[in-house]
Amino acid sequence: MTSVQAGPATDTTAPLRFPSGFLWGAATSAYQIEGAVREGGRTPSIWDTYSHTPGRVAGGDTGDVACDHYHRYREDVALMSELGLGAYRFSVSWPRVQPTGRGPAAQRGLDFYRALADELLGAGITPLLTLYHWDLPQEVEDEGGWPARETAHRFAEYAGLVAEALGDRVEMWTTLNEPWCSAFLGYGSGVHAPGRTDPVDALRAAHHLNLGHGLAVQALRAALPDSAQVSVSLNPAAVRPRTGTPADRDAARRIDALATRVFTGPMLHGRYDADLLEDTAQLTDWAFVQDGDPALARQPLDGICVNYYTPTVVSAAPAGTEPERNDGHGGSAHSPWPGADRVAFHQPPGSRTAMGWSIDPGGLTELLLRFHRESPGTPLYVTENGACYPDAPDAEGRRFHDPERLDYLQRHLRAVHRAVAEGADVRGYFAWSLLDNFEWAWGYDKRFGLVHVDYPTQRRTPRSSAAWYARVARSGELPR
Ligand code: NOJ
Repeated sequence: MTSVQAGPATDTTAPLRFPSGFLWGAATSAYQIEGAVREGGRTPSIWDTYSHTPGRVAGGDTGDVACDHYHRYREDVALMSELGLGAYRFSVSWPRVQPTGRGPAAQRGLDFYRALADELLGAGITPLLTLYHWDLPQEVEDEGGWPARETAHRFAEYAGLVAEALGDRVEMWTTLNEPWCSAFLGYGSGVHAPGRTDPVDALRAAHHLNLGHGLAVQALRAALPDSAQVSVSLNPAAVRPRTGTPADRDAARRIDALATRVFTGPMLHGRYDADLLEDTAQLTDWAFVQDGDPALARQPLDGICVNYYTPTVVSAAPAGTEPERNDGHGGSAHSPWPGADRVAFHQPPGSRTAMGWSIDPGGLTELLLRFHRESPGTPLYVTENGACYPDAPDAEGRRFHDPERLDYLQRHLRAVHRAVAEGADVRGYFAWSLLDNFEWAWGYDKRFGLVHVDYPTQRRTPRSSAAWYARVARSGELPR
């Protein structure tokens, strides 16, 4: 990757100039947009099973059809071109390319992603491929899922197989998307597939995701020694103690360990921090971590990718009180935070998106600068950032005028620029999302798209934020 420099930022009225070569993109994921869940030999993933289980997803929505992107990818790539995007982040559906989660690939599945990559390259759009965006083959879950060590090996085999098939077209690879959600929402609070609720399984899952990441990086490097640029997409938490008291600061430390350091510890530094092990000691002795695992999880990376939406404000909850579960990740009687029973989560005052997530762009600057400090020399990318708002016709009756989303994006891009100005080597930004899509347990009601999708007709209509983002992407400049 070539090094990039930000332009001077001395004129306070001039637009903010991003580094030359900065990637302007948008992101999606397979289960959220593809549909076609029974085509080409694809088998069910844990999200097919979960979404078809009554009561799991709002409105009983499923990804069966979603945005029908599997059949409309050409139209969608044409849309990206119209929006002036230089890059596109998508994920490969594991059960579409390796239906049983082991053994040979399904050619028809791989053909779809080859055709998608060709279409992108033909349009001059750089593909960024995520190997795992939460759609574990159901068969792998049935054999234990991420709490089972074998899943890490299955994942590495799958990574190698995708690398062999797509390595001639794709250079930028991300192993896992937001492993915190896979581990702690999938196996802890159960608000994500597979919907299990065991705190120790959540920790085991986290470890095997770390291990799977390390093994997958090795598989990618083995298959593509000269070309692969490998990264991981994390959702580190920008944690703030509600007050400066030692107790609240300690609550913030605990959540930082469970949200962020549980992954960055092994992946970036080759260790689990002692405080994390201590905080969870009453649940487990972590005997599932074998000698050499944390070192294996730490593989040299060509990029660290940050997904950011909202900060996390916490305080200590006095012993004996029922802690608030208001952590922004949906209602469940089960906590996604093993070992942090006495931490309360708070919504800071100020505006929020339709997810109820408070808006605080400073958290993004903070996280980028943190990785800049902790992993100096490793390029950074923002692989997700965006906002959900309901559509409402404006005074002129324009339905897709979305000033709130535009404002959210603008403020967060300023926050990225601030991190660059302070020295962080940020090389790209991917808005979440290109299209409205299946927002997991929230179903289709929650819309994050730059582009509106009318599901009954599958008609795509760019919102005004998309036109604005296109101007920024084309010029590489952000109006002040
Ligand atoms: C994170 C996830 O990676 C993505 O799939 C999801 O839709 C967005 N955040 C918004 O919640």
